[in-house]
Amino acid sequence: MYLEKLTLENYRNYLNEEIVFDKGINLLLGQNGQGKTNLLEAVYYLSCANTFRGGKKIEELINIEKDYFHLSAVLIKNRTFELEISANRQKKRQIKINNVPYKRGIDLLGYLKVVLFSPDDLKTVKGSPQERRRYLDLSLSQYDKSYGQVLQKYQKVLLQRNSLLKDKSLPLNESSLSIWDEQLVNYGSEIILKRLNYLKKIVPTARKIHAELSQNKERLNITYQSSLGKIGDVSLAEMKNLFFDTLIKKRKEEFFRTTSLFGPHRDDLIFYLNDLPLRIYGSQGQQRSFILALKMAEARIFCSDGDKPLMLLDDVLSELDDLRRKFLLDEIKNEQMQTIITAANMEFKEGNLPYNQAYEVSKGKIIKI
Ligand SMILES: Nc1ncnc2c1ncn2[C@@H]1O[C@H](COP(=O)(O)OP(=O)(O)OP(=O)(O)O)[C@@H](O)[C@H]1O
Ligand SMILES: [Mg+2]
Repeated sequence: MYLEKLTLENYRNYLNEEIVFDKGINLLLGQNGQGKTNLLEAVYYLSCANTFRGGKKIEELINIEKDYFHLSAVLIKNRTFELEISANRQKKRQIKINNVPYKRGIDLLGYLKVVLFSPDDLKTVKGSPQERRRYLDLSLSQYDKSYGQVLQKYQKVLLQRNSLLKDKSLPLNESSLSIWDEQLVNYGSEIILKRLNYLKKIVPTARKIHAELSQNKERLNITYQSSLGKIGDVSLAEMKNLFFDTLIKKRKEEFFRTTSLFGPHRDDLIFYLNDLPLRIYGSQGQQRSFILALKMAEARIFCSDGDKPLMLLDDVLSELDDLRRKFLLDEIKNEQMQTIITAANMEFKEGNLPYNQAYEVSKGKIIKI
């Protein structure tokens, strides 16, 4: 798969731009604040209808002087696909795939697969459990579209269950809550098992990559910490039983706290280096290497299980030392993955980075150089 063309209309600081990409490495150069990250964000938005930058407000994506934005991407797979997404200030979002309209963001999943490297990735290590769940959910939804679908169903049920728990006007009792329990357990169990399976795939690959990066000095590990307690190698039926039992046992606690306290929305990932929690003991450089290994593992798994992903490297090469930079670029070359690299540092143009096509980004305009 590769991205052939991207068109941006009224998106952030872009008014009307079209960019044709090379199948290999595309370099975007430009000074601070010119629109490099905005462009990667547009590509990412077309991959999963989600932005990787904190806030979730569609409003912010629309150019401040306009009333709507429109993005489109032409993808070459076994055949050509055109993905479109647009939104206006009335918060109406529209998605089209080959001119056919779709209602939900998740319908976009699975067409354009991307792996993003951004300076914000460190939040995955340092931030709250929510950041790690967000990382896992976005990565896994790209890998497995059905994960995105079940996650969305779970979130709907969770909202309804929580509003029932909070509603003081209703007499809260077993039977009113149990209507939602069953769906919470069914979707939630599926989510947890899919997460555990994904970790089983990604952790050994990340560990291998990390061993090379650290010259076998450090051992990477990730464990799944569930609000439901310790979960071994369980079947779906066993998982559901465990979830149900917990809800019944902890009823009073949920009534008292007026919110749903158990399930995948309360789970976390714990990252370890040499059996020590990375968040607490890892240096900045170790945290960076960990994330690099994790993202590269993601890319490798995408490559071996299906489509090669499009790699988006936002301003990260300058932060890596020579060894890590070479490692990442060699992987991109060996796997022949299409890549978009942004850099504010003009020295990349002078030949220390192999690329197939370079562009300059300036005040929301893109010029081939
Ligand atoms: N909705 C919007 N409408 C108009 N301009 C916007 C909008 N959202 C962001 N911008 C502008 O986009 C610019 C930032 O673009 P971007 O983050 O892509 O910069 P960058 O080239 O990645 O810079 P850096 O090298 O600092 O990371 C800012 O000048 C900001 O004002
Ligand atoms: Mg930027």
